[in-house]
Amino acid sequence: MVKTEILKILKSRQGYVSGQELCELLGVSRTAVWKVIRQLQEDGYEIEAVRNRGYRLRESGDVFTGEEICSVLHTGRVGQNLVFLDIVDSTNNEAKRRAEQGAPDGTLVVALEQNAGKGRRGRSWVSSNGGGVWMSLLLRPQIPPECASMLTLVAAMAVEAAIRRVSGLEGQIKWPNDVVLEGKKVCGILTEMSTEMESIHYVVVGIGINVGATEFPEEIRDKATSLSLCTDAPVNRAALTAAVAEAWEGYYGKFLETLDLSLLIEEYSRNLINRGREVKVLSPGDTYTGICRGINERGELLVETEDGVRTVMSGEVSVRGIYSYV
Ligand code: BTN
Repeated sequence: MVKTEILKILKSRQGYVSGQELCELLGVSRTAVWKVIRQLQEDGYEIEAVRNRGYRLRESGDVFTGEEICSVLHTGRVGQNLVFLDIVDSTNNEAKRRAEQGAPDGTLVVALEQNAGKGRRGRSWVSSNGGGVWMSLLLRPQIPPECASMLTLVAAMAVEAAIRRVSGLEGQIKWPNDVVLEGKKVCGILTEMSTEMESIHYVVVGIGINVGATEFPEEIRDKATSLSLCTDAPVNRAALTAAVAEAWEGYYGKFLETLDLSLLIEEYSRNLINRGREVKVLSPGDTYTGICRGINERGELLVETEDGVRTVMSGEVSVRGIYSYV
């Protein structure tokens, strides 16, 4: 797209780029260039336009648009088909609708705001404009359906790595897939799947990262946080989105090599907040406590109880610290 290309060129230059050069590089008219520059200014970029010199990008701030994401995205597949929406019911729903219409593997749906954001176990997910990054990744993996639950753990690793890269904050993972900062949840992941017989039709991995949110509903106030609440440094949402996509590709590649987490177990376990702590496992009809000893290569949690080590599969189970959320 011309808009993304102009943005990339402006970002790559210290000084001015002449309108003529942009026209020649992109094969479009001067009027077309000027229109795009105006749109970029409306999006929030500070672009100087000086007669006889051309255009210069001064400030990007936290412009969060599809073009901004594309201009900083370095992936092979993820986000190469990017759907950026101002408002949507849920990016997961939108990714599923697109999947049904044949959207390719790696399609990324991002929205400024969701008015029916979904959490796990039928809960809703607060997703205001400016509050965070709400994104869903569409995958068409050729893996058995029973392997799909591991993808949420892979996504948690990608988010933790992306947060570290973009903000410098060291997060941790609460099994299976919450990312935690200062003992509170900063990111939730909801994976949905459509299967056909014994194979996967598609998987949607939905990721919600609280960025600018400072207020949370009463019922989650004591266990939710955001990046803004944990750092004074501004966090660029487009850079964070791109960093998640890039980190995802690395970890997902390793997952695909073995179709399990054996190449990732060590890193996952290092970041696992539950490890070595007493946890309470709440599953329908069975509640017990034990010491968390990490995960196995299928992503199941290992809990040491008086009767020996039990493996916990994600799904209906909820794992908590014995006194609090972690
Ligand atoms: C959880 O309950 O922890 C999961 C929350 C998942 C929220 C994200 S935001 C983007 C995507 N779209 C949704 O409707 N939900 C997920």
